Amino acid sequence: MKSTAFFLAAAAAAAVHACDKEHHFRHHERHLHVQQPRSQLDDIGASKRVFPPALTAHERVLIDSFDNTTVASWSRYYTHKRNLAGESDIVPKWTAERWGEYGFETRLDSYYVYLDYPVHQSLALHYGNGSMWEASLEEEVLEEDETTGYSDRVPAFHGYSGSGNVSAEYVYVGRGSQQDFHRLQSLGITLAGKIALAKYGGPFRGLKVKNAQAVGMIGAILFTDPGDDKTMIPPTYPTYPHGPARNPTSIQRGSVVDLSAYPGDPTTPGYPSKEGSERADTGTIPRIPSLPLSWVEARPLLVALNGCGVDAETVGRSNWVGGIEGVEYSSGPSGARVSMRNMMRGEMKWIHNTVGIVNGTDGDEVVIVGNHHDAWMIGGAADPHSGSAILVETARAIGALLKTGWKPKRTIVLCSWDAEEYGLVGSTEWVEEYIPWLKDSVVSYLNIDVGVAGTIPDFGASPDLHALTTATAQKVIWPHGNNRTVYDAWEEKAGEIDGLGAQSDYAAFVHRAGIASIDMGTTRAPTDPIYHSHSNFDSFHWMTTFADPGFVMHKSIGQFLTLMLFHLVDDEVLPLEPANYGVEMRAWFQELEQLVSEANATADVQLSALDDAVSVFEDSAREFNGQRAMANSSAALRAVNHKARDFGRAFIGQGGLPGRDFFQHLIFAPGIDTGYRPVMFPGVTEQVAAGKLALAQEYVGKTAKAVLAAASILRS
Ligand SMILES: *[C@@H]1O[C@H](CO)[C@@H](O)[C@H](O)[C@H]1NC(C)=O
Ligand SMILES: *[C@@H]1O[C@H](CO)[C@@H](O)[C@H](O)[C@H]1NC(C)=O
Ligand SMILES: *[C@@H]1O[C@H](CO)[C@@H](O)[C@H](O)[C@H]1NC(C)=O
Ligand SMILES: *[C@@H]1O[C@H](CO)[C@@H](O)[C@H](O)[C@H]1NC(C)=O
Ligand SMILES: *[C@@H]1O[C@H](CO)[C@@H](O)[C@H](O)[C@H]1NC(C)=O
Ligand SMILES: *[C@@H]1O[C@H](CO)[C@@H](O)[C@H](O)[C@H]1NC(C)=O
Ligand SMILES: *[C@@H]1O[C@H](CO)[C@@H](O)[C@H](O)[C@H]1NC(C)=O
Ligand SMILES: [Zn+2]
Repeated sequence: MKSTAFFLAAAAAAAVHACDKEHHFRHHERHLHVQQPRSQLDDIGASKRVFPPALTAHERVLIDSFDNTTVASWSRYYTHKRNLAGESDIVPKWTAERWGEYGFETRLDSYYVYLDYPVHQSLALHYGNGSMWEASLEEEVLEEDETTGYSDRVPAFHGYSGSGNVSAEYVYVGRGSQQDFHRLQSLGITLAGKIALAKYGGPFRGLKVKNAQAVGMIGAILFTDPGDDKTMIPPTYPTYPHGPARNPTSIQRGSVVDLSAYPGDPTTPGYPSKEGSERADTGTIPRIPSLPLSWVEARPLLVALNGCGVDAETVGRSNWVGGIEGVEYSSGPSGARVSMRNMMRGEMKWIHNTVGIVNGTDGDEVVIVGNHHDAWMIGGAADPHSGSAILVETARAIGALLKTGWKPKRTIVLCSWDAEEYGLVGSTEWVEEYIPWLKDSVVSYLNIDVGVAGTIPDFGASPDLHALTTATAQKVIWPHGNNRTVYDAWEEKAGEIDGLGAQSDYAAFVHRAGIASIDMGTTRAPTDPIYHSHSNFDSFHWMTTFADPGFVMHKSIGQFLTLMLFHLVDDEVLPLEPANYGVEMRAWFQELEQLVSEANATADVQLSALDDAVSVFEDSAREFNGQRAMANSSAALRAVNHKARDFGRAFIGQGGLPGRDFFQHLIFAPGIDTGYRPVMFPGVTEQVAAGKLALAQEYVGKTAKAVLAAASILRS
């Protein structure tokens, strides 16, 4: 135990600086810009107030084709076998067969990538008094939930983690954000040479490990904290499998690669991983070992820190205190030590993306739909197989429409990605291989990953897809409540469309190719069953018992996806709304102005060039809408459709963001210390936040230039 006097002094000294350190930066909070479909898009919103929604004959075929019983059968298949990335091509081949049966021309696009696998994981706590306790690192095997007991079940580990044995004192570091570490340092806690104990939530897990490594820590343990389950806790609610609350042994597996630097195979940054490809260092993989832990096994470690180091109140960071009983969330260290061992085996492996194609009559416009098929556990009923099951059913619905003689104008490409979980590997390598074709032809990329994990429809999308999203949501019946559509359920509980960070396979499409994209699914309401992310309890049994009995939300989300795809491939007028980029950019610009002003940087960072560029964009988008409304020949329509397809390419700035070449979209990017959540005008915003004002000014110029280039594509 440390002397109290030392810590009081350190805390007092730190308090003086605390306000600078704690300052900013705010991420873009989601805006509500529900777009009323307008001009030639009126037809897709016509059904708004009618219930049941009015549908065209083609829409009716698609909607009626969706069957919760077949969806359930696809889910059962996917959730009962091990499909960790790089281990087998059985699942992608099965997917190709199903899609083939419904009229898609299929193939596997395979890449030769670096992956790693767990060899030995252990963690022991050594109390100062000679006693020790060893963690099991295992999730409970449940009689009710058969896949939790499969003998080939996947151990709990971190993908792309550092190998090593370390033994040291440890420090509780909150969520493990840069600010958390800086706060502890400012309070006089020595971090170098110690092990970080961080809770999940907030920054992407790989960034927690990266941040720990950056301050000289030698290992990281990431645990799930039931405080983040808010009110969905015992004794009000029993724990899974007896009720909807979290099973205390649930462990969140996951990748710890540095996703805000570079997704994809770490050994081939910027180019596809072929068998003979040149290989770079695995610089985005942490050097220090890390392990995931359940809350029940994190408790002894946290209890041993009670009263040691800095107390939670002194740290004073929001969300620092979690919900584990008997834990004070003191920082430590305490004299207790952890020895942890994480032995990983790195290997070159084949991964397999399933690709299914139906040619459009107009081959120079393409719509891609994707989800991933690799999973961290046997199960994955929500992540990713609610998406996998929906995608097979989508193929079946399109097949039903093809049988009526319908042909899509634009080409449909379905993709089932491999190795998403390690770092969006399958999709990133594929985009890197096909980028010229993608930039020339792709109209939109529709992503579904966690298709169903709660009862609130949830969308993240580029601004030009907002109108189509809300219009489509109004055409699909939601299974819960009386006479409600997906739109009603979304508007009541979410009502906002998120921006796009790097949470799933849309990342390369957006950030490398500037393609209009959406990520869709559902998220939890506070009273929904806990979704055990990346745990054995994300299982078929959990899905059928708690999350979506009857697969009724699978059906709705699938219908939504399919109608959105249908309009994107079938409508004469491409249903994209470039003008909404103007609306969003104006709002983000105002936030940026405020950030610059709060940072007292108005003298060094002059935003007028960006302000003017956004105005030019707004004017050009209005002009474009006029041109589109008057397009009266197929040549004129084709020209406006191509502009709507192409203007977003201009947001891609050659060279990317400072220090991260991969992320080239100058309007939004995953936050450098969030990974998941997007930051708007990232080149400027993040440099202002970091105090690098000259660089921020440089990015004002680059961003303005990109916005003007997008405007000129619309106007030309
Ligand atoms: C050592 O300390 C731990 C934690 O306080 C306690 O559980 C254990 O019984 C102690 N062992 C001995 C030998 O005193
Ligand atoms: C870790 O420790 C084990 C035995 O405890 C040993 O076999 C292994 O070689 C060690 N690995 C490293 C990298 O030190
Ligand atoms: C689809 O188009 C591609 C490229 O033009 C062509 O190679 C392929 O044979 C076509 N497939 C079908 C089924 O027509
Ligand atoms: C739901 O819609 C149906 C069909 O339009 C209508 O008959 C019924 O009254 C509606 N129910 C409610 C609760 O609004
Ligand atoms: C499909 O939905 C119906 C009606 O909601 C339900 O009775 C049936 O059990 C569901 N099928 C499956 C396989 O869950
Ligand atoms: C900006 O200036 C004001 C007034 O001088 C000061 O109170 C504030 O702390 C400064 N903010 C930053 C981030 O430097
Ligand atoms: C089509 O639009 C063009 C340009 O707006 C106009 O000059 C032309 O008269 C229109 N043609 C018809 C048939 O409406
Ligand atoms: Zn996923």
